[in-house]
Amino acid sequence: MATMESLIGLINKIQRACTVLGDHGGEGMSLWEALPSVAVVGGQSSGKSSVLESVVGRDFLPRGSGIVTRRPLVLQLHKIERGTDYAEFLHAPRKKFTDFAAVRKEIQDETDRITGKSKQISNIPIQLSIYSPNVVDLTLIDLPGLTKVAVEGQPETIVEDIENMVRSYVEKPNCIILAISPANQDIATSDAIKLAREVDPTGERTFGVLTKLDLMDKGTNAQDVLEGRSYRLQHPWVGIVNRSQAEINKNTDMVSARRKEREYFETSPDYGHLASKMGSEYLAKLLSKHLETVIRQRIPSIIALINKNIDELNAELDRIGRPIAVDSGAQLYTILEMCRAFERVFKEHLD
Ligand code: GDP
Ligand code: NA
Ligand code: MG
Repeated sequence: MATMESLIGLINKIQRACTVLGDHGGEGMSLWEALPSVAVVGGQSSGKSSVLESVVGRDFLPRGSGIVTRRPLVLQLHKIERGTDYAEFLHAPRKKFTDFAAVRKEIQDETDRITGKSKQISNIPIQLSIYSPNVVDLTLIDLPGLTKVAVEGQPETIVEDIENMVRSYVEKPNCIILAISPANQDIATSDAIKLAREVDPTGERTFGVLTKLDLMDKGTNAQDVLEGRSYRLQHPWVGIVNRSQAEINKNTDMVSARRKEREYFETSPDYGHLASKMGSEYLAKLLSKHLETVIRQRIPSIIALINKNIDELNAELDRIGRPIAVDSGAQLYTILEMCRAFERVFKEHLD
């Protein structure tokens, strides 16, 4: 029997296959919707992109003040046994990126390609895969931040547009929500918690993440939030210290950022007693563990969906006639074979 880790790897492969299925306008999206993913939600500049980067352990996302993330980014992390990290975009499948600064540039360019160099947003996701021995298998979604007012160059509807876009991702029952709130604002004003509570009232798929602990006013601390007294969630709150803008400008690397974050918690008079359950690495582990539980519960329904898709793919192949040499036929056939293989492996996992 394969390990749980490889099972999550399989899920990622299926999600990729389903993206292709979705492109055929078929029922592929329903299978995609059956599988868990993790999305970040929060106000603009609350630290969403920074948290995602930390979970991945690589620098590759555009970050900064103002509206930086303007299209959804669907990011699949694939753990590989060995080798150097690389990335691939769905819109440029033959290009392997090993330079992660170039990945960030490509995200920016691809954002501008659809929205122009404006402050506009687009619902069309950018799809990126990262392969690395140093990640856990996860699908993560970076989203534009919730705002309160339209700024110069934005349509009046932007506040609502962003909220609707974000909601369309996080309302899905299989979406695990990283609700990002900055510690230097009152938790009662958190946009992340507000939206998360609306789409997940029981809190079973919401993880509260408190960023910017280092930016709190002197003499205050976030113990009440982190220990669940201010706002109770089913899962424990995780406190995070991301890089400041000054550190981003200085190109402080991820390894030193994580070391600094660890030191922050270990030496903090306020959070020392919580240190083992704080920080980006802990958050990544917590998420991975939660995903495993969710996936295990879902295996029977995933098998049912795969069967449904096998039927649909067979029907589609019958319709276009097989064997067929044209691209779409060959592609469908490959997907069908993949689905069959997935089904076999899932059944093994059930035993
Ligand atoms: P997003 O808009 O929610 O995606 O937020 P970003 O990740 O782009 O971060 C916005 C700004 O806040 C950047 O300048 C970050 O450097 C800064 N920032 C984010 N998290 C922290 C943190 O924990 N501590 C400090 N000091 N700055 C942070
Ligand atoms: Na920002
Ligand atoms: Mg962002």
